[in-house]
Amino acid sequence: MDEFVRIPEGKPSSGSWCETTVPTDPWLEPWLPLLADHTGDAPILELGCGTGLDTAVLTEAGHAVVAIDISAEAIEQAMRRAPTARFLCQDLRNDWPRHPEGFRVALASLSLHYFPWAETLNLVERIHDALRPGGILLCRLNSINDHNHGASGYPQIAENFYLVNGKTKRFFDRDSLGALFGACWRTLAMEERVIHRYAQPKSVWELALEARR
Ligand SMILES: C[S@@+](CC[C@H](N)C(=O)[O-])C[C@H]1O[C@@H](n2cnc3c(N)ncnc32)[C@H](O)[C@@H]1O
Repeated sequence: MDEFVRIPEGKPSSGSWCETTVPTDPWLEPWLPLLADHTGDAPILELGCGTGLDTAVLTEAGHAVVAIDISAEAIEQAMRRAPTARFLCQDLRNDWPRHPEGFRVALASLSLHYFPWAETLNLVERIHDALRPGGILLCRLNSINDHNHGASGYPQIAENFYLVNGKTKRFFDRDSLGALFGACWRTLAMEERVIHRYAQPKSVWELALEARR
């Protein structure tokens, strides 16, 4: 427990990365049986936990969670929502805690889209390395059809990568998902969905992947 930082003074605080959220996004519930089959006693590694909406679903389902986010304000809220989870306030691009045999489940919901392509690839490789063989990644990523939230109409930095209200934001199509989750992953599910957690509908990809060796 001690190695997990609980909002230390002066840690990076990112400002408002998340738009105002409403608790009408029950995407995780259908995955709980799969997670229950896989986690055993190992904690779930949550990357970019934000205010802990998913963290709370996981802890209420009985899972231990190690959750990382760069925003101290978000983690403060997440700690209230999911008091039994362990939180690290840090940049995802820095080292994560390791589990001795590898994590069995990782979760990254709407948190892997802020980065240049090489960094995005690197993050996904690191998730693979953090998981044991057969471990599961549940992940949601912005779709290129997410026009309500920046997939068009903003300054373009690179293909499907925009500067949206001062923050970089990537949008994914099938090809980029194929490039991101290559031979090291087995795709269990991949579906484009419209979700309603924000004032405007949002198009996302929802994926479940198994780490191969
Ligand atoms: C759109 S929110 C999603 C939060 C949460 N997963 C959810 O679905 O409610 C994206 C989160 O990623 C975090 N984030 C953005 N860049 C980050 C970075 N470089 N390192 C760690 N967290 C980051 C933000 O602070 C924010 O909480």
